Amino acid sequence: MNLVLDDLTAVAPEAGSACSLENYLALPDHTMDGRIAEARARLGTTTLILGHHYQRDEVIRFADATGDSYKLSRIAAETDAKYIVFCGVHFMAESADVLGHAGQQVILPDLNAGCSMADMAEISQVEACWEALERLGLASEIVPLTYINSTAAIKAFCGERGGMVCTSSSARAAFEWAFQRGKRILFLPDQHLGRNTGFTMGIPLEEMAVWDPWGLQGGQTKEKLAASRVILWKGHCAVHQRFLPSHVDAVRAKYPGIQVIVHPECRFEVCQKADAQGSTERLIALVEQAPAGQMFAVGTEIHLVNRMARRFAAEGKKVITLDDTGCLCTTMYRISPQHLAWVLENLVEGRVVNRIQVKPNVKHWAKVALDRMLETG
Ligand code: 13P
Ligand code: SF4
Repeated sequence: MNLVLDDLTAVAPEAGSACSLENYLALPDHTMDGRIAEARARLGTTTLILGHHYQRDEVIRFADATGDSYKLSRIAAETDAKYIVFCGVHFMAESADVLGHAGQQVILPDLNAGCSMADMAEISQVEACWEALERLGLASEIVPLTYINSTAAIKAFCGERGGMVCTSSSARAAFEWAFQRGKRILFLPDQHLGRNTGFTMGIPLEEMAVWDPWGLQGGQTKEKLAASRVILWKGHCAVHQRFLPSHVDAVRAKYPGIQVIVHPECRFEVCQKADAQGSTERLIALVEQAPAGQMFAVGTEIHLVNRMARRFAAEGKKVITLDDTGCLCTTMYRISPQHLAWVLENLVEGRVVNRIQVKPNVKHWAKVALDRMLETG
């Protein structure tokens, strides 16, 4: 196979050809390892593989860099690699495309790897919300902030209206930035991250309102909205919302002295009971920094928890999942070793498959909002 890196086409191979996806999906996982390693080696520095912490082991072991959404966005903005293969979900690859340089191409190994939380806010609903807030005379004092788990169109909407993007690791910095510029924040789409961040900054729950995109005027009165410093979009992560306060009580009763650490996409009541909350990268750091012998119950996606359990067992630290059924992010799981082998071997053959490209009219303001995130976070 010859590398034709300057003459790539974005056309998927025909079904039935050796490089078509169906031929890969029929093969067992372990047969992909050697093929991925070989293709990766042949691509050299032209290609960077990024892996989010929720990726499965068979995929993340091939990542050149791993991280939370913030760290991966920063790496995507700084790399000179011509091809970024993003083992994560759609909004992450979109953000990488917005932040990347001209001439770079971003590839998502499975285009079905979305995020159910990001799907809870559509740009038309966000525009309708803003118009309602304008009619009520409130919009001029509101700074819109969107979690990175959202479409590029929503990021652009926020950028154009003086707002920005944040991740779970930069949410507090984004709130502080926004309160220097406005009286209120519209935070979308994760109500839990917004509520947890606002509350840790001293904003009482009575000064927060939930905007239901399916309700008349968000399901809120003008008085309630005018009395609120944070307006929270009614969205959530189904993976993290499954953790309950009773799970915290149960692990504490069973393992006295255990530390409970959770992702801030968990419910307010769970975060309040936990010892600490943080992004995926911070959850790892918390265990890294703990003394040997410490035990942790971690409230986040199961692939990360299992990986932490294996890694830290060697240091005498025990890591278990907060809810013993374990929560799987099915969309992150869509990136399989077969998909990774498929995109890499096509690249080796000179074809870009599954390229993620944000439309130029959206890109400008989405970049403004993402750049503000990188500058502030
Ligand atoms: P992190 O930025 O903490 O990695 O979170 C991304 C995410 O989607 C969590 O569900
Ligand atoms: Fe989206 Fe939740 Fe999966 Fe994160 S864990 S990518 S928020 S569905």
